[in-house]
Amino acid sequence: MSAYQSIEVIQKEIEAASLQSEEEIEAFRIAFLGRKSGRITNLFKEIGSVPPADKKEFGRRVNELKQHAEALIESAREAMSTSVGSRGPSIDLTLPGRKPRRGTLHPLTQTLEDIQSIFERFGFGVAFGPEIEDDWHNFSALNFPPDHPARDMQDTFFIEPPNDDDGILLRTHTSPVQIRVMQEQAPPVRVIVPGRVYRNESLSYKSFCLFNQVEGLYVDEGVTFADLKQVLHVFARAMFGSDVKMRFRASFFPFTEPSAEVDIWWPNPELPGGGRWLEVLGCGMVDPNVLKAVDIDPERYTGYAFGMGVDRLAMLRYDIDDIRILYENDLRFLRQF
Ligand code: PHE
Repeated sequence: MSAYQSIEVIQKEIEAASLQSEEEIEAFRIAFLGRKSGRITNLFKEIGSVPPADKKEFGRRVNELKQHAEALIESAREAMSTSVGSRGPSIDLTLPGRKPRRGTLHPLTQTLEDIQSIFERFGFGVAFGPEIEDDWHNFSALNFPPDHPARDMQDTFFIEPPNDDDGILLRTHTSPVQIRVMQEQAPPVRVIVPGRVYRNESLSYKSFCLFNQVEGLYVDEGVTFADLKQVLHVFARAMFGSDVKMRFRASFFPFTEPSAEVDIWWPNPELPGGGRWLEVLGCGMVDPNVLKAVDIDPERYTGYAFGMGVDRLAMLRYDIDDIRILYENDLRFLRQF
C-alpha cells in the first residue's frame, strides 16, 4: 500500500472513530499519534521515500491528518469533562433542602402582644411613659405619703436622691403613666401602658431587678369594682383558657381604695398540693386623692386601675420556672419559642 493510500485509510478511520471514555481516547492517541509507532507518526517517517516533487503535498496532507486526529481527541476530552457524573461538583439533587433558621419573638414580646390584643378588643388604647421618672409622678401624685417605705433607697434606684419630693429615679412601676395620661386627657380614659420597671429587690426565681408591667386605667362616670373584676376574669380566660383558676385577695396600695391582688394557680405535679399560687397583678379603684392630683372631680368620676407583671404571666404560660432566664438571652432557651 502506497503512503498516499495509507493517508486515505487513516482519514476514514479517524472519521469513524467514536471516543466515549478516557481509555478509548488514550488508546486512540497511542495508535495514531504515539511517538514510537503511531500510524500518523510513521507516515512522517516515510517522507524520505516520497519523490521530491511530491514531498510538499505529502507533508501537507499528513499534517492535516495529524491536526484532524488531535482535534478529535480534544473534543472527546471536552465532552467527557462536561458530562454529568464525571467531574465537577457532586451535588445530590434528591436531598431534602436545608431550611434557613428564622428568628422568633422573645417570649416576653409574644406575651405582651397577646395582652395588648386582648385589651384592644375591650376598647383600650395604648400609652407610653418615660422609664426615668420624677418622684412626683412615681410617688407623690399617686398618694404615697412622704415616709412610705417604697420611696426608700432599698427599693428604688435613684438617679438623683430625693430632696423633698424632687428626686429622679428609675420608675418602680408603670402607675406614674396613669398620672401622665390623666394630665393630658379628660375622662373617659381607657388605656393600657406596657413598659419596663426597676426595683432594687433581692433576686429570686420570681423577682428580678428589672421586669415588665402592663398598667390598665379606666376612668369614667359610674365605673365600679364589679367592672374591674369582670374585665380581669375575661382577660384571664382569654389568656390561659376557660379552666384558669384565679383568686382575688384584699390588699393595699396608696393609689387605690379598695385594693386587691390577683393570683393564678400554677399547676406543678412535683409540688405538694399539685401546684402553687403565683401573684400576677395588683388592682383597685382609683383613690380619690389621685383624681384630685390631676384635677379630675372624684364626686363625678370613678375608675379602676391594675398593674400586671408580664414576666410572671409569661412564666405561667410557658411553664418557665425562673424569671431571670428571660433576661439572659441564652439562645438555647430563646430558640424554643
Ligand atoms: N403599681 C402596682 C405595683 O407595681 C400595681 C398596681 C397598679 C396596683 C394599679 C393597683 C393599681 O405593684
